[in-house]
This record gives sequence, structure tokens and C-alpha cells, in this order.
Amino acid sequence: MNTSALADTARAMVAQGKGLLAMDESIVTCNRRLAEVGIAETRENRRAWRELLLTAPGLGASISGVILVDETIRQATAGGTAFVRVARDAGLLVGIKVDTGAQAMAMHRGEKVTEGLDGLRARLETYVGLGASFAKWRAVLAIDDARLPTAACIAANAHALARYAALCQESGLVPIIEPEVLMDGPHTQARCQEVTEAVLRSVFRQLVRQGVVLEAMILKPNMVVAGLACPAQNTATQVAEATVQCLRRVAPAAVPGIAFLSGGQPGDAASARLNALQAFKRTPWPLSFSFGRALQQPALGIWAGQAAHRAAAQEALLHRARCNAAATLGRYSAAMEAP
Ligand code: G3H
Repeated sequence: MNTSALADTARAMVAQGKGLLAMDESIVTCNRRLAEVGIAETRENRRAWRELLLTAPGLGASISGVILVDETIRQATAGGTAFVRVARDAGLLVGIKVDTGAQAMAMHRGEKVTEGLDGLRARLETYVGLGASFAKWRAVLAIDDARLPTAACIAANAHALARYAALCQESGLVPIIEPEVLMDGPHTQARCQEVTEAVLRSVFRQLVRQGVVLEAMILKPNMVVAGLACPAQNTATQVAEATVQCLRRVAPAAVPGIAFLSGGQPGDAASARLNALQAFKRTPWPLSFSFGRALQQPALGIWAGQAAHRAAAQEALLHRARCNAAATLGRYSAAMEAP
């Protein structure tokens, strides 16, 4: 394992003024998103959507890398250029989601554990051969006011994340560690902070125990927010304060970068919160983004599968990318959203 090359890649993923575009929805999730805007759920439409994203002109100015999924890393543009080539030519690092999804956890109603460790070493080798330089694994933690997540669910997911991360580093890939505490439910922001801290503590304990090199990974956590159904919602500053406090308590300074997931936040709210996070100048890590929905959603609605809307959809993607790039520098403001 070349630790210093991995650390260089990790730093490039969170380079100043850039972040990651997560376009690694599973076939089922991508189909659902296409169907929501009236697009037929076909392999060709998934491919066309991913081509639209990857070929947005100048994407590399604000995006450091893209997270693909097994189907996509093997696909090409309508003109026959491999997506991996398109990404590299645009100055984008190529990442790959390698978990096989969150499945119901036995004996733990309402909770999930992410699968995909079986045969992972061989799959990672294949992805390295296809041009990937980093990988992603997402654990999902349901939260409520008292019972969830259980200690068992936290432990099972932390263990799997660490095993995945060790395999990645051994294979020459930088692992993105994504333990997502969900936003669904009426829980308070304080409860989200308590749970996020517990989850991240468990994850780092496992990472260290299993020999993962902290300098050669990226943490992809949720922001500390109240549940979507909580009557008391927070300002961007309150979200930033709680998130930074949480991370300072549990994320080692050795970690080269933190790239938040958006988790269903509207695009402008995610940008405003990311921007507010930059007020904490003395955090040991760059605070960046690895957004899926918060980058893609407006563009998908505009495209709606219509060739005539392609350029406008790409501009909507680029707009969100620029907003978030500005937010990583503390330069985002609501004025950027003006039409
Ligand atoms: O696994 C989820 C993606 O990597 C991030 O997606 O920003 O929509 O939460 P999201």
C-alpha cells in the first residue's frame, strides 16, 4: 500500500474550493428519481442522465471527483467515449460506490446494515483496473427520540465500514466512510448530535482497531440537523455550531477531509449550512461536500428527459456546483441564488 499516494488523492478530493458529485444512486434509486420527473426507468435513460452530468462544461472547476456506481463506471457516452475517460479529461477523480446496499438487520426492527463485503477484494481490483481512485460505502442509521439507533446496529455498521476501508486501502483506493444518520422523523437537533457523536465514535474505534490509515480516508457524515418533522428547525449557524462541536469531539485531526452528504436538504439550505461551517476557521480538516440530491435535483427536474432541456439542466447542475464550491470558501450568499 502506498500510503502517501492515497493521502495525496484524499487531499485532492477535498481540494480548496471543490467537492464531490455523488452520482452513485443504485439502479432502483436512480429509476425512482427518473420516474418522479416522468422519465421512463430504462438503462438508456440512466445512462443519458449520467452522460448529461459528466459532460457539463467546466464541471471540474468546482468538482474534484465523481462517485459512480457499477453500471455507470462501465458505460460510455452516446458517441462511445468511456465515462471514466470523460471524467478524467474533465479533471475529475473517479470514485465508485462498492457497498451493495442497506438491508433489514435481523432481529432489529426498523434498522439496516449495509452489505457488500463478500467478494469485495476482487471487485475492488476490478474497479482499480477500470480507473477508480477512491471508493464509497454508505451505512444508514435510523434515529428516533429514544430507541434508535441500537448499539447493535451502530456496531455492525461501524465494523463493516472499517472492514471495507481496510480492503480499499490495501487495494490502492481511498475509502469514503459514510455513516449517515437519517433526517427522517421528529427528533431534535440535540438528539441528532448525540446519535451522530455515538456513531462516529464507534466508527473511528473500529477504523483504528482494523488498522485503517486515518490520513488516507475521507469522512462523509451528515450535518447535525433536527429531523424533518421536528417543529423546531435550526438556522444555518446553529447547524454549523452543532456539527463542528460534534466533529471536534470525535473526528481525529489526522483525517485529511470531511465531505458532507446532503441527506435530502434542499440545495440552497445545504449550501448555506456548508458556508456557515467555514466560519470555524480552526477546524483541523477542510469541510467540503459530497452531495447527491443537493447537486442533481434541480437539474433533473429541468431535464425531464428532453434533449431540448439538456443545456439548461447542465447549467442548473453547474450553478449548484459553483454555489457549493463558493460555500467551501465561505463565499456563498443567498444572492448567488438570484435568477
Ligand atoms: O449515499 C448518498 C450519496 O452519496 C449522497 O447523497 O447528498 O443526496 O445524501 P445525498
